[in-house]
This record gives sequence, structure tokens and C-alpha cells, in this order.
Amino acid sequence: MGFDIKRVGVIGAGQMGNGIAHVCALAGYDVSLNDMSTERIQLGLATINGNMTRQVNKALIADADRVAALARITPAVNLDALAECDIVIEAATENEQVKRKIFQQLCPVLKPETLLATNTSSISITRLAASTDRPEKFVGVHFMNPVPLMQLVELVRGIATDDHTFDLCKKFVLRLGKISTVAEDFPAFIVNRILLPMINEAIYTLYEGVGSVDAIDTAMRLGANHPMGPLQLADFIGLDTCLSIMQVLYEGLADSKYRPCPLLVKYVEAGWLGRKTQRGFYDYRGEKPIPTR
Ligand SMILES: NC(=O)c1ccc[n+]([C@@H]2O[C@H](COP(=O)([O-])OP(=O)(O)OC[C@H]3O[C@@H](n4cnc5c(N)ncnc54)[C@H](O)[C@@H]3O)[C@@H](O)[C@H]2O)c1
Repeated sequence: MGFDIKRVGVIGAGQMGNGIAHVCALAGYDVSLNDMSTERIQLGLATINGNMTRQVNKALIADADRVAALARITPAVNLDALAECDIVIEAATENEQVKRKIFQQLCPVLKPETLLATNTSSISITRLAASTDRPEKFVGVHFMNPVPLMQLVELVRGIATDDHTFDLCKKFVLRLGKISTVAEDFPAFIVNRILLPMINEAIYTLYEGVGSVDAIDTAMRLGANHPMGPLQLADFIGLDTCLSIMQVLYEGLADSKYRPCPLLVKYVEAGWLGRKTQRGFYDYRGEKPIPTR
């Protein structure tokens, strides 16, 4: 008891990790940001600066807040640099082996009281927790993309997560200015259990020739009042992440209705991962995204 979160470690400086570091630093936490290379950490920091500058231009934050928040983020070139953190949030690639390996290397470095969280979109919290030395201090803290804009964080308990840990995480999320919901530890939790099968179905609709990329996205924007089409959203999430989530649903729930669309598999095999690689269902290399089918 009396445990206070002051320093937050974030593993993965990709779109989610840099977003998490962004909101933590703005909320006044000291942040240590880790990735596989100094270059990736620097890229993450540059993105944070760009996104905070946009917030300054929109008068959402003062420039002094941007400067102070950036000064609170320290690059952590290896996991040893996370030794002083009170909570570490893992936001690396959506791959169970990658995450397990990180926890194996990380746990011996941490203080015994440090909380461990994962931002996984779909993988079992109980199973990930079991690969650590502290399943009772392990929690799913699932931020939404883009983190600085989206209000929700899904909180997911593993079977061993204790009440104190869960409570601390709830308060932490509240201090970040987010609203939390609680999801049980089932594959893909709530948001992605519902969202990803819809995106996968949109890809089947494209695959079967029911409509073009533009027709499908326009139909869902204007016909279902979605703020963006499902294929545009898939590109935004990252097609590798979409495929991993569908595989977790397919295997975890053992139901053929979650079978990943072969076209999604092919795009990922081609390295067409959406916005992060400049090509997915749209081509992002020009001024305006161009549908590719
Ligand atoms: N993209 C989304 O919309 C979204 C939303 C919520 C949650 N998530 C989850 O967040 C996590 C990250 O997703 P993302 O979209 O940021 O992916 P991303 O590809 O943008 O970033 C992943 C980062 O992890 C880094 N990484 C990989 N292995 C690592 C290791 N061993 N040590 C340190 N860093 C490592 C990569 O270098 C990369 O920078 C995934 O678990 C994903 O499911 C994604």
C-alpha cells in the first residue's frame, strides 16, 4: 500500500507506444521509452513532438506543456534502463513470442513492486502474465489508436491479477484523462471482438468483388455513419496487427467465422501493412490516399 506511480516505462515506440508515452508525459509522469534500436526510439520521439505541436496549434495544450512533457521522456536503449519504473507498459508488436521474450528479459531487472501491463489487442492476459514472475501484478491496459485522441482504455484482469494492482491501474488511467471499461480475459476483449470481424468481413467483401475499396468505405461511412470506412481503418490499425487479432480470435474461439480473409494474409505477406508502410488498401505515397483496388 502507499505505492505511487511516478515513472512509467513504455516498451515499443511504434504508433501505440509513442502515443502512450505522449499521454503519460503530458499527465506529469516521467517516462522511459524503449524500442529495439535508438533509431526507432528517436522516430517515436519525433512523432510525439509532431503530435504535441499539432495540439499546441489547436490550442489544446500550451507550448510550455509540450516542452515540459518532452523533457520528461528519456530514451531507454535497453531493458535495464527500465529498472526504476513503477509500471511498465509493453506495446511491442502483436506477437505472443515477442511479448514473452520481452517479459523474460525484463522481469529480473524490475523492482519487486513494479506493475506490469500489456497493451495487447487480443492475446490472453492470463497466459502473458504466467510468463512473468508477477502474475498478480500483471494487467491488460488496452489503449485505443490514436492514443492522444481516443478516450477509452479497456482494463483486463488476468486470473491472478490482484485487486490492489487493478485499482492502481484504474487510477492511473483516470489521471491520464481517459475513461476505462472492464473487459474479461477473452480473445480480443470487447472492442476488437466486435470491430475486427467487421473489418475482416469488409476485406472478404473486397476479395469476393462485391465492391471496390472506395465503394466499401463510402458505403460504411455514408450508409452506416461510421467516421471512416473499414478498409481505411484497417490501414490505420496496421494490417499485421489486424491479421494477428483475427488469428487469436480464430484459434482462441475455435470458430470458422473468424477465419482471416486470404486477401488480408496476402497483403501482410507482401509487406503491405497500411499507413505505416505507405501501402495497404490505399497508397499513401502521394498527396492524397489512392484506393489500390
Ligand atoms: N494499431 C492499433 O490500432 C492498436 C490499438 C490498440 C493496441 N494495439 C497493440 O499495441 C501493440 C503495438 O502496436 P502498434 O500498432 O504500436 O505496432 P507498431 O508496429 O507501430 O509498433 C510496434 C513497435 O514494437 C517494437 N518492437 C518489436 N519488438 C520489440 C522488442 N523486442 N523490444 C522493444 N520493442 C520492440 C517495434 O520496433 C515497433 O516500433 C500491439 O500489441 C497491438 O496489438 C494496437
